[in-house]
Amino acid sequence: MPIDINTILAETRGKNFEIFEEHVNPVFVKVLRILGFNHSWIRGEGPYLWDEDGTRYLDFLCNWGVFNFGRRHPTIRGALQQVLDSDFPGWVGFDGPPLAGVLARELTKRMPEGLDTVYFSNSGTEAIEAAIKFTRAATGRPCIIHLAKAFHGLTTGSLSLNGEASFRRGFEPLLSGGSEVKLGDLAGLEARLAVGDIAAFVFEPIQGKGVNIASDEYLLAAQNLCRKYGALMVCDEVQSGMGRTGRFLACQWIDGLQPDVVCLSKALSGGYVPVGATITRRAIYNSVYDSMNRAIVHASTFGMGNLAMAAGLASLAVLDDENLAERANELGARFRRGIEAMVPRYEFLKGVRQRGLMIGIEFGKPESMSLRAAWTMVNKMDENLFAQAIVIPLLDDHHILTQVAGHAIPIVKILPPLNISEADVDYFLAALEDVMIKLHKFPGPAWDVLMKLGNHAITAKRREGRAAAT
Ligand SMILES: Cc1ncc(COP(=O)(O)O)c(C=O)c1O
Repeated sequence: MPIDINTILAETRGKNFEIFEEHVNPVFVKVLRILGFNHSWIRGEGPYLWDEDGTRYLDFLCNWGVFNFGRRHPTIRGALQQVLDSDFPGWVGFDGPPLAGVLARELTKRMPEGLDTVYFSNSGTEAIEAAIKFTRAATGRPCIIHLAKAFHGLTTGSLSLNGEASFRRGFEPLLSGGSEVKLGDLAGLEARLAVGDIAAFVFEPIQGKGVNIASDEYLLAAQNLCRKYGALMVCDEVQSGMGRTGRFLACQWIDGLQPDVVCLSKALSGGYVPVGATITRRAIYNSVYDSMNRAIVHASTFGMGNLAMAAGLASLAVLDDENLAERANELGARFRRGIEAMVPRYEFLKGVRQRGLMIGIEFGKPESMSLRAAWTMVNKMDENLFAQAIVIPLLDDHHILTQVAGHAIPIVKILPPLNISEADVDYFLAALEDVMIKLHKFPGPAWDVLMKLGNHAITAKRREGRAAAT
């Protein structure tokens, strides 16, 4: 009997969280319920999602940066349908898949000079794992440097490069000999490089956690140091690539920056099929595949699948045809102007970190006495809480999905699709202003929600403390 996906979806409508919590991840469901993020989504189109009540939401989370082209883009869907309808075979194994060759050729055309060879995988973390292995093989050195606050994925190698202890806890020891340096600390970087055992310095040109933008001067100086001490530079563009920041890659904003490896994923799939790409120099690639009996010494069963490769080709075409990198610049500037104009009006609002449509909205301690007391109280309850005071009403009252930018930082991040309209930007700005107005009334209903959440957090912490003690 053919399986009827629509019937399954209809039968599970409204019950999805019960089923998910029973068979997949109950803790995540608990978090979603507490935050009020437990909507049952039934439709997606462009930048919008609809829930089971038929309410439309603007998706500025985009699955952490996957949907640069929105949902159901006709070009990407069309390319995938062509693959499904053709009888062209994929994953023969002993093969040189043509779509992989063509996508690799298209990607290398868009890369910094000299990056002419591609390894394909299925996710961001796999793209990083390949970079770790490739740079170790090319240099014959074991160790990798990463930055504080870095996020490169959660498989064991990538996790070793994670700049947040809470992600690593419980999984250590990870790769040995790695080293964390602070963004901007050139002396610390040089001291570690000088030991002579570093294969690579891995960095995000704009960190996803916190939207920390590395300065041109820092990255160019880091590049000089890497060259001086024989280490390679790995630029993680998993989130910042594919036009997100107004250039194909965020590192292309910096004249003279020439990473040895670039990692891509997320938006390269066009939102349909997982894909990862590690793009490097021929000599580095050849140091891995260095003899016939090592011709597939690094590989993955599902790498270079026809659907992923077709999605990648279609995504590049959409990016070019719709001039979306330039569009990201224009719209990003509109967000920036709107948010900056609000800063003098709202004490909690401190500024904006923005390049293209990778945007962090900064909040901080207010000046006036009563608001300062509210700020201190909330942060004492839980330092993750304040940013939720923005994210929750944006979702509940204005139907916009956003995210907190990281652990214990009062920054809200938005990653809108690159093809939203000016009206979408203005709608967001008006919503943010409304949230600000309500939050600047203390005491007031906006704070009641936070108090409730804070009490949940305190109870949960106590429970964890008791569990750890027994
Ligand atoms: C900069 C960066 N690198 C790597 C990854 C890992 O990608 P994935 O979740 O596909 O493994 C992410 C995911 O958010 C990321 O933002």
